Amino acid sequence: MNIKQLLTEKTLAAFTQLGLPEGTNPALTQSTRVEFGDYQINGAMGAAKQLKTNPRQLAQQLVELLDLSDLADKVEIAGPGFINVTLKADWLAKQLSVAAIDARLGVSQNPAPQTVVVDYSAPNLAKEMHVGHLRSTIIGDAVVRSLEFWGDKVIRQNHMGDWGTQFGMLIAHLEDKLAEGVDLESVALADLEDFYRAAKKRFDDEAGFADKSRDYVVKLQSGDAHCQKLWQLFIDTSVKHSNDVYQKLNVTLTDADIKPESAYNSMLQPIVDQLVEQEIAVEDQGALVVFLQELADKEGNPSPFIIQKTGGGFLYATTDLAACQYRSIELGADRIVIFTDARQALHFKQVEITARKAGLLADNTRYDHCPFGTMMGEDGKPFKTRTGGTVKLAELLEEAVVRAEAVVKEKATDLSDAEIAEIARKVGIGAVKFADLSKNRTSDYIFSWDAMLSFEGATAPYLQYAYTRVRSILRKADVADDFSAAIVINAEQEKQLAVKLLRFEETLQQVIKDAQPNLLCNYLYELASLFMTFYEACPILKEGVEPAERNSRLMLSILSAKLLAQGLDLLGIEVMERM
Ligand code: ARG
Repeated sequence: MNIKQLLTEKTLAAFTQLGLPEGTNPALTQSTRVEFGDYQINGAMGAAKQLKTNPRQLAQQLVELLDLSDLADKVEIAGPGFINVTLKADWLAKQLSVAAIDARLGVSQNPAPQTVVVDYSAPNLAKEMHVGHLRSTIIGDAVVRSLEFWGDKVIRQNHMGDWGTQFGMLIAHLEDKLAEGVDLESVALADLEDFYRAAKKRFDDEAGFADKSRDYVVKLQSGDAHCQKLWQLFIDTSVKHSNDVYQKLNVTLTDADIKPESAYNSMLQPIVDQLVEQEIAVEDQGALVVFLQELADKEGNPSPFIIQKTGGGFLYATTDLAACQYRSIELGADRIVIFTDARQALHFKQVEITARKAGLLADNTRYDHCPFGTMMGEDGKPFKTRTGGTVKLAELLEEAVVRAEAVVKEKATDLSDAEIAEIARKVGIGAVKFADLSKNRTSDYIFSWDAMLSFEGATAPYLQYAYTRVRSILRKADVADDFSAAIVINAEQEKQLAVKLLRFEETLQQVIKDAQPNLLCNYLYELASLFMTFYEACPILKEGVEPAERNSRLMLSILSAKLLAQGLDLLGIEVMERM
């Protein structure tokens, strides 16, 4: 059910009858205030301008043509020509009855599924995953889950960095460690950070090591078996580390989704040759460069985009051009969505413009680089450890669970230690994820343990607790999930909850369109709050409540619980029966 879409279609049909051209914007929105009803049709003003008539008169005509008598009990014209629609309680009840027995909870499925490639997480394997990878990983995963729920064909692409020059240094160091007889797993790579640091120190200080490292990069990239073998050992261990983090984070990425930089190796030279051939890339001081007038600076100097270094080396940029070709031409993507931090915005603009010119990106493939802001510490500076180092993601998640356990224990009355541990895991991980996902993607945000673990406000614990409240009511009422009864909407709180329950699909559409999971976070928070308000005002289990009323309210509760769980699942956040 998508009320906004239904009203949009009706308005567009009326527009046609009024002789308005196709594409006239109906400007339909959810009402921002209760006085404005449930939905507003704001398109009459724009339409009147086009028809050169009086907007209020046109609004009047529109209302007559719309004929919303079956679903609205009030359609009011306000101000210069706003149309405020107040939905009918029994119409809402009817829609909810359908949603309550539907496996998809009344959310329709994409009638025209698209192939969407989503590039997310993509850590560099030379180092351990750190907080900087959190956002790409969880925002990407929430969007992927939403797209799949809507019915699109999603192809996850974990564009892991496994091919840079650091790998020469790392495998040269690994070779020596193995020669010393150290066990790979437990010693050499148990801590990727330490390993990287040790290799880097040798690179800087030890005579001959840097040369050997450079030599190993060249050998590796040209397919030398010995270097490849060392490299593979390193990569496998590093991937295993990432997989541990994915599992802890409840992220859906698997090994099958890994399409690392190295996978594009054989495509790079042909692509560079093609760009030269097409006269898109030109030689400049020994390097091959694409000069992009589209991204020229204020003085009119084109933006340089280097695709091959002096000496023949390829770059991050070259690989991204190859990735465009693979995703658009070979996989046939209708849309490519890439999540990285905002500092890479220029890079992806350069990639897109170049790839389109060269035909590496089909005209009908939409290319969305979705940037995100930085996670800040409470001091307002990029989040660091107390000593100023990068915070390892695995350690951050462990701390989250420990902190959550303290919070859960405080509230728990009759839970076993094992139950507390399990709940703490879900709350801790959920808290970190929700705190991040609920922020506007493009802004920086402040990481605060206290705020994210609070039971008040828009937090995972608040939502998880709200869910357990509903479940506890349903347990006390002794009703099963497939309980069925007529829904009747009387109280204002029931009506508010009803409208919200029917807006899940509208929210989902918006999340997918803008790649903004924070909209779903807002929705779920509002849904949980409206449920709490409803529950306070509308008794369910109290003595004296009429059976029909009680059963109707139980139906609203069941649907609320299911939608909360479904919504949180799209964010990759787990729920529990009790806490
Ligand atoms: N590995 C890169 C980084 O850590 C992110 C890769 C994003 N995807 C891409 N196609 N470039 O910054």
